[in-house]
Amino acid sequence: MQASPAFGHLICLVGLCLIFWHHGLMNISVPILVATSMMIASASATKAMNDKPTVLITGANRGIGLEFVRQLADRDWRIIATARSPDDAVELRGLATENPDILIEQLDVTDHKQVDALAERYKNQAIDILLLNAALGPTPKTAMSQLATLDWEVGRQSIEVNAIGPMKVSQAFMEHVQASQKKQIIAMSSDSGSFVAGSQAPILYHYKMSKAALNMYLHTLAFETRKHGVTIVMLHPGIVATNPGLSKMPGALKTADSVAQMLTVIDGLTPEDNGHFIDYRGESMPW
Ligand SMILES: NC(=O)c1ccc[n+]([C@@H]2O[C@H](COP(=O)([O-])OP(=O)(O)OC[C@H]3O[C@@H](n4cnc5c(N)ncnc54)[C@H](OP(=O)(O)O)[C@@H]3O)[C@@H](O)[C@H]2O)c1
Repeated sequence: MQASPAFGHLICLVGLCLIFWHHGLMNISVPILVATSMMIASASATKAMNDKPTVLITGANRGIGLEFVRQLADRDWRIIATARSPDDAVELRGLATENPDILIEQLDVTDHKQVDALAERYKNQAIDILLLNAALGPTPKTAMSQLATLDWEVGRQSIEVNAIGPMKVSQAFMEHVQASQKKQIIAMSSDSGSFVAGSQAPILYHYKMSKAALNMYLHTLAFETRKHGVTIVMLHPGIVATNPGLSKMPGALKTADSVAQMLTVIDGLTPEDNGHFIDYRGESMPW
C-alpha cells in the first residue's frame, strides 16, 4: 500500500517536533504539535466525507427520484437529495430525519447560479453517481396538444428542465464525478426521446423533443469525458406508475420495481456502456 502525501508530511512534522523538543525549544514544538493534530483531524474529516459511495439526485422529492433515495439509503449510501421546494418535500424530509446520510438541498435545475453554488458547496465531495432525474413531464393537456394548440412556453420550459438542466448539472459537477470511484452519470431519459421506440403518433411534442435533446447532449458529452473514465448512460425506466394516469397504462411498473431493476443495471455498467441508451432491464434502446 502506498503512503499518502499527508502521511509523509505528518511524519516530517512529528520528527521536527521531536528535534525541537530534544533541544528544549518547547515554544516551537507546541505550535507544531497543535498544527499536526489539526491536520490529522482535517484529514479524517475529509476521509469520513468520502468514505461512503455518494449519489446526487435531482428531483428527489417524489416519484422515481424519491424511490432512488429510499433504495440507495438501504444500501448505506450518502445521498445528496435535491428538490425544488424542500419545505414541501414531506416524505423526503421524513427519510432524512431517520438517516443523517440523506442531505436535502434546494435545487431548481433551470437556475444555473444555484447549480454552480451547490457544486461549489460540495467541492470536496466526490460523487459516484450523478443521477439526472428531474424533468417536466407531460400533463393530459400538453400531451394531447397538436400543431394549432402547442404552448410554446411549455416547449421552452421542457427544453430548459429536461435537456439544458441536466447538461448544466453535468457541467457543474463533472469534477466531483471524476474524483469518485464509480464516475457515473445516469440520466433518466425516456422511450419518448426515441424516434423508433416512442409513440408513432402526433402527441407529446414538447416532451419527446426535450428527451431527444437530452439524449443527444449526453451522447455527445460521453465522447468528451471518456478520457477521464466517466461513464454516461441514458436510462429509460419503463412506464412507471408515479401518478394515477401512468398507473392505468398497460404494463405500468411499480416505482419500487423499476428502480430496483435500474439499480441492478447501474451496478453492472462498465466503461464500454459509455454513451449508450438502455432501458431498466439493461436492453439497448434505439435512438
Ligand atoms: N414515470 C414514467 O413512466 C417515466 C417514463 C419515462 C421516463 N421517465 C423519466 O423519469 C424521471 C422521473 O420520472 P417521474 O415519473 O418520477 O417524474 P415526476 O413524478 O413527474 O417527478 C419529476 C421530478 O422532477 C422535479 N422537477 C421538475 N422541474 C424541476 C426543476 N426545474 N428543477 C428541479 N426539479 C424539477 C419535480 O419536482 P416538483 O415536485 O417540485 O415538481 C419532481 O421531483 C423523469 O426524468 C421522467 O421524464 C419517467
